[in-house]
Amino acid sequence: MERFDGKVAVITGAASGFGRAFAQKGARLGMKLVLADIDGDALGDVVETLTAAGADAIAVPTDVSDGGALEALAQRTLDAYGKVHLLFNNAGVGASGFVWEMSASDWSWVFGVNVMGVAHGVRVFTPIMLRQDEPAHIVNTASVAGLISPPAMGVYNASKHAVVALTETLYHDLRRVSGQVGCSLLCPAFVPTGIAEGERARPARWRNEAPPSASQLLAARELRKAVRSGKLSAADIAEATFDAVRENRFYVVTHPAIMASVRVRHEDIEYMRAPSDPSVPPDSAG
Ligand SMILES: NC(=O)c1ccc[n+]([C@@H]2O[C@H](COP(=O)([O-])OP(=O)(O)OC[C@H]3O[C@@H](n4cnc5c(N)ncnc54)[C@H](O)[C@@H]3O)[C@@H](O)[C@H]2O)c1
Repeated sequence: MERFDGKVAVITGAASGFGRAFAQKGARLGMKLVLADIDGDALGDVVETLTAAGADAIAVPTDVSDGGALEALAQRTLDAYGKVHLLFNNAGVGASGFVWEMSASDWSWVFGVNVMGVAHGVRVFTPIMLRQDEPAHIVNTASVAGLISPPAMGVYNASKHAVVALTETLYHDLRRVSGQVGCSLLCPAFVPTGIAEGERARPARWRNEAPPSASQLLAARELRKAVRSGKLSAADIAEATFDAVRENRFYVVTHPAIMASVRVRHEDIEYMRAPSDPSVPPDSAG
């Protein structure tokens, strides 16, 4: 997809972080924007700011874990703009701590948003794009946690590995039927956004009764620190992602230093070694 001016972008998780940065970039490129998020108030603020600056944008409060809500989002998009050219399946949340300590609600919430949110987006929007038979593109936000498996992030890692597998398969499947619809897989490392405060978006039905365990408190503290210390901004990630869409590149790995750990993981598999700890840099692992 080489041209963006006048085209229609749908962005989930658009009220904060990467989603908001995709919206700002899309607005600068003259795109029509359909912005979705579970946080209706913050979403309204984003749309208000963008439209005040001259952008063409609508807010559609949406819980991406709900398939019916994604179907309604697609209908709102077609009603407002008639088409959809660029879809960011981006909304995501995390929960950390030892994998056996994660509650059933943690699994349902993180998989509901990170995996089913992307699956619903692909299920609902891909047929519309294929029917249009004009250049279109889907970007699924995974994470480096979909390429390696850092400790004390088991639920999040598993969800992002699922997004990697789903999106690699989407690539193959699209190539069988269309030269017009492409897809990319976004895998960033830590970037300062609201991701470490994801609990704010946890629906009541998936709240935990029990207080967090020691491993969960420690992992949450470490996550907040790591996210805060990220050197790239959400705007940098948006630039890199739009470049990849323009060039029809599949893998968007924004932090190349992580590739050393990805390589070690692949070698561990190839040589059937026990998994190396990716939180220990490969050259210091001894
Ligand atoms: N920031 C990072 O360090 C980092 C690194 C790798 C991957 N990611 C991924 O990037 C994506 C965007 O996260 P971010 O860093 O911008 O975080 P963020 O918290 O700033 O933004 C995420 C947005 O998703 C929304 N959201 C949460 N649950 C939702 C739901 N059920 N339906 C609709 N919207 C929902 C939130 O309200 C929020 O506005 C996520 O998929 C995340 O896993 C982030």
